[in-house]
Amino acid sequence: MNNNSLVSIDDISRDEILQLIRVARHFEENPNSRLLDGKVVATLFFEPSTRTRLSFETAVNRLGGRVIGFSDASTSSSAKGETLKDTIKMVSNYVDLIVMRHHLEGAARYATEVTDVPVINAGDGANQHPSQTMLDLYSIEKTQGTLENLTITLVGDLKYGRTVHSLLMAMRYFNPTFRFVACEELRMPREYKEFCDREGIRYTEHTEFSPEVINTSDIIYMTRVQRERFTDIMEYEKVKNLYTLRNDMLADARQNLRVLHPLPRINEISQDVDDNPKAYYFEQARNGLFARQAIICRALGIDPLK
Ligand code: CP
Repeated sequence: MNNNSLVSIDDISRDEILQLIRVARHFEENPNSRLLDGKVVATLFFEPSTRTRLSFETAVNRLGGRVIGFSDASTSSSAKGETLKDTIKMVSNYVDLIVMRHHLEGAARYATEVTDVPVINAGDGANQHPSQTMLDLYSIEKTQGTLENLTITLVGDLKYGRTVHSLLMAMRYFNPTFRFVACEELRMPREYKEFCDREGIRYTEHTEFSPEVINTSDIIYMTRVQRERFTDIMEYEKVKNLYTLRNDMLADARQNLRVLHPLPRINEISQDVDDNPKAYYFEQARNGLFARQAIICRALGIDPLK
């Protein structure tokens, strides 16, 4: 495995997280450079994406590199039955860095085992989405002025939502208090609650998205119910609209509260929230560009602050 790969948020330390935030801030102030001159990056998306793929590709372009890849695996030879191993080995012949999204949990880790080229996990099944976590951390730090001692409420699909799993793990360095708001079917999996217990992270579980929960939060992190992870579509239909944030629900929220969502949203946040100054999800997605510029430089061993 190339040590600069980013497969899980667990691969990076507290100091590296803080350094990536500093570098993201640098890129927000200076988005264009030639740091990737001569470098080629592959974006291999075996699952659909708008933000992650386009922001990674924009990041490479803004750093002066070039991009190859596919956004639809049915146009690649995997549709003819080529294995993931062979695909990764082939692509490694052509590029300096691989960014990959795959529906199978562990696919990115596996990719690192068959290539010496660094791999960035752009989402593997319900497992991890570490670049999303870096942009979430950057967004939290920007809006709260700190990552320390915050109360963060995670709402919706906590079972399959890889973004909440990665965020939970990254926040262990910063003394958070979590609220998990989900229905019985989509509760935070036991392994992540055990992680909290081991790391001394406080959390409470709720089935009701109550005013008490909303009005004592610094961050509300809404998530989409992930239809693509359900084997029984009736189960999805039962739970898909259980939690919707409306503007009137924010009337007594803390001044510093910000509403995040990794997007895409379906019905989790009503459109009347969009003009509330506490809504931050579109800026959050914009921050993805700067966070991903920082992640790409780390993967290629480039220090933009030198
Ligand atoms: N947040 C996120 O991963 O969005 P996309 O699926 O559009 O990449």
